[in-house]
Amino acid sequence: MCGIVAYLGQKQAYPILIKGLKRLEYRGYDSAGVALVDSEMAVYKCKGKVSDLEAHANGKNINGTIGIGHTRWATHGEPNDANAHPHYSESKKLVIIHNGIIENYASLKKEMIKRGHTFLSDTDTEVLVHLIEDIQEKEKVDLFEALRMALNEVIGAYAIVVMSKDDPNKLIAAKKGSPMVIGIGKDDFYIASDATPIVEYTKNVVYLEDEEIALLDRNEELKIFNIKNQSKTPYIQELELQLEAIEKGGYEHFMLKEIYEQPKSILDSMRGRINAAQGIVSLGGISDYETKMINAKRFIIVACGTSWHAGLVAEYLIEEYARIPVEVEYASEFRYRNPILNEDDVVIAISQSGETADTLAAIELAKSKGATIIGICNVVGSSIARATHAGSYTHAGPEIGVASTKAFTAQVTVLTLLALSLGKKKGTIPHSKFAQILSELESVPSKIETLLKKDNQIEYISEIFKNATNFLYLGRGCSFPVALEGALKLKEISYIHAEGYPAAEMKHGPIALIDAEMPVVVIATKGPSYEKVVSNIQEVKARKGKIIAIVTEGDVTVKEMADYSIEIPETDESLVPLISVIPLQLLSYYIAVMRGCNVDQPRNLAKSVTVE
Ligand code: G6P
Repeated sequence: MCGIVAYLGQKQAYPILIKGLKRLEYRGYDSAGVALVDSEMAVYKCKGKVSDLEAHANGKNINGTIGIGHTRWATHGEPNDANAHPHYSESKKLVIIHNGIIENYASLKKEMIKRGHTFLSDTDTEVLVHLIEDIQEKEKVDLFEALRMALNEVIGAYAIVVMSKDDPNKLIAAKKGSPMVIGIGKDDFYIASDATPIVEYTKNVVYLEDEEIALLDRNEELKIFNIKNQSKTPYIQELELQLEAIEKGGYEHFMLKEIYEQPKSILDSMRGRINAAQGIVSLGGISDYETKMINAKRFIIVACGTSWHAGLVAEYLIEEYARIPVEVEYASEFRYRNPILNEDDVVIAISQSGETADTLAAIELAKSKGATIIGICNVVGSSIARATHAGSYTHAGPEIGVASTKAFTAQVTVLTLLALSLGKKKGTIPHSKFAQILSELESVPSKIETLLKKDNQIEYISEIFKNATNFLYLGRGCSFPVALEGALKLKEISYIHAEGYPAAEMKHGPIALIDAEMPVVVIATKGPSYEKVVSNIQEVKARKGKIIAIVTEGDVTVKEMADYSIEIPETDESLVPLISVIPLQLLSYYIAVMRGCNVDQPRNLAKSVTVE
């Protein structure tokens, strides 16, 4: 979603802003803009990519050692030049960039129109910068005070940076609900939605807390206040992020790099947490809450998108091994249906970014009802990680491709460890089974390595089906969420309509769609439901559907029936999702590339969904 970059210092701001905006492209956006102050203030903005913005600014004055930049993901008003950020105040002396939503913008706008303000865009953001200037003039206060007063009037979420033409030595930033990080250089400051635009300049950062306002002055140290005007001491942290982790490293796309990183990212998510030889699983971050979890009446998993699919896999594993009832909820539905919750409930929030607005709101709701909240997040220090009582990081490393891949397998790995550790403590998993899964888990990374060597086979199948208009994905048990995830990947990046279904449910509807044009991807690995899946494949074949089967190495029956099959290394049934999802990720990747789609930044999608 919207990306923010700002710079104040000795260097030219424009190249830093452009590079920073490019680093934030992964978040998803549809227009971009910058504002700079040299002798005058200049604003350049347009619909499209950052490269379009560069073309637009080409030949114009791009000088200035202070500037703000933005990538916009449209909420209020279509993606066009006028709605792109930065936005001017009425006098054009102030400019603002904003991530989030000002919910009461309509009433504020009405008021200001009555007082003679004219608005150039349909955005809620423009209303905020008009309000700030309005207060500044009416109350005869400085910009900081006017901004502080304005923020006390708005309802909603924001990460904003405001710059004034009259004071090119200052930037003011504030946040509530949307993330913002400030980088402190030797003699300069950087502001961004996340650390990726900052890491190459400085490792010293301050994560702004909700309702905090930062005052950055060229000649002074960073100052932070809250919106009640109390001064706060900035907490400077050292970034752990490495520059290589956010670059493509020779791969054509981030998504492909991230698919290939999975043997390592899965290992990283297990590192220091298991010892198969000694039969130990420990998730340090939640050890204080383990007794609470073992005694919980039920778990409620809240998440969105791919993280929700990881939650569905966890439902099978936690119920099977820890014998604790699990419900898996879309965070967006959960938060609005007055859920029944009490102190014996444990809510597990899963999120790659740790910033998803609906998941964050679901956590706040559950907290207010007394439930214990455990987070499974990838981004260290993210809002969700901070809002939970305890949690485990997935340690997948930065995920830049919008379509989630390595974050999913890392989430499933951590959730598997959770199911095993609770099951062991509760005594609900037989010792031999526990030991077997643990040692199998250790071999998953090398099995994925082997599987990745077959990617030319998947590329070949992709070529055959790249022009299909519909796909069906089928699976049973914990392969059902994998079917959902495979369908989601294909939709997200290739724009082919795809649906995931529990294989047996197919006959209650989707079977009507099956004809000779319909590719059906079936996860048909060895396990208790193998024979049942074989019958489902027969049902598809009888209607001339084309079967692409994911089978266990050495399989004979399904391979004979399927039009195409991809063998995956054998593993314990409960670990199959970690391996079977890989060919589905690659299938969607190759199909999207062959269709000429923008794999890393698919249309309309955002990596981190900070609005509900
Ligand atoms: C967006 C992303 C998905 C992601 C979902 C949930 O839709 O494009 O890849 O699964 O948000 O995000 P989270 O960061 O909470 O896992």
